[in-house]
Amino acid sequence: MSKASLILMLLVATICTFLDSATALIHVVGGSNGWEIPPNNTFYAEWAKPRTFGLGDRLVFPYRTGAHNVLQVLEKDFETCGNDNVINHYFRGPTIIQLNTTGEYYFYSGIGTHCEAGQKLHITVVNGPGSSGKFFHSTSEEMALAPAPAPTLSDTSSAGEVRVLGKICFALSFLPWLFM
Ligand SMILES: *[C@@H]1O[C@H](CO)[C@@H](O)[C@H](O)[C@H]1NC(C)=O
Ligand SMILES: *[C@@H]1O[C@H](CO)[C@@H](O)[C@H](O)[C@H]1NC(C)=O
Repeated sequence: MSKASLILMLLVATICTFLDSATALIHVVGGSNGWEIPPNNTFYAEWAKPRTFGLGDRLVFPYRTGAHNVLQVLEKDFETCGNDNVINHYFRGPTIIQLNTTGEYYFYSGIGTHCEAGQKLHITVVNGPGSSGKFFHSTSEEMALAPAPAPTLSDTSSAGEVRVLGKICFALSFLPWLFM
């Protein structure tokens, strides 16, 4: 392999690594509903279910200041909508929380009876890349139903796509070695 093509290959690999490392996702809580009193009690659990929350990802709670807030509590308080152990209290919307540690996170809106109405979210942060849970199984149906969906605030799949592209690109950049 010539020196020029070696340099080119390393350059491509570097760019790919950069794409691959764009791993932190932004999860917009509740999708297009945002952080609201949900239509049913399982709404936020259903929103969280297909997702993977990775270390370094961010949660965005979209809401108007005063209309809602975000209390981070321990599991016991989460179950009872109590406030014996409030870890963090955020009240200026939108609230953006970077997930810096692995483990369980419990949130609810502490305004009125929002928590009792189901405005509560439990997530587990894992030591690995996050995922919107959308990239692999719903792109085909999304494309079939809506040929050119306009990107919205709730659409976080692009970061996942960039990351997957990064991995493919990285793998391809080493392909020439096989033929040397
Ligand atoms: C809760 O509401 C969401 C949004 O309207 C809906 O997609 C979901 O199926 C509902 N879940 C149940 C258990 O009714
Ligand atoms: C997470 O880490 C970042 C960067 O070190 C820091 O700016 C941010 O305040 C931390 N967030 C929380 C919720 O601890």
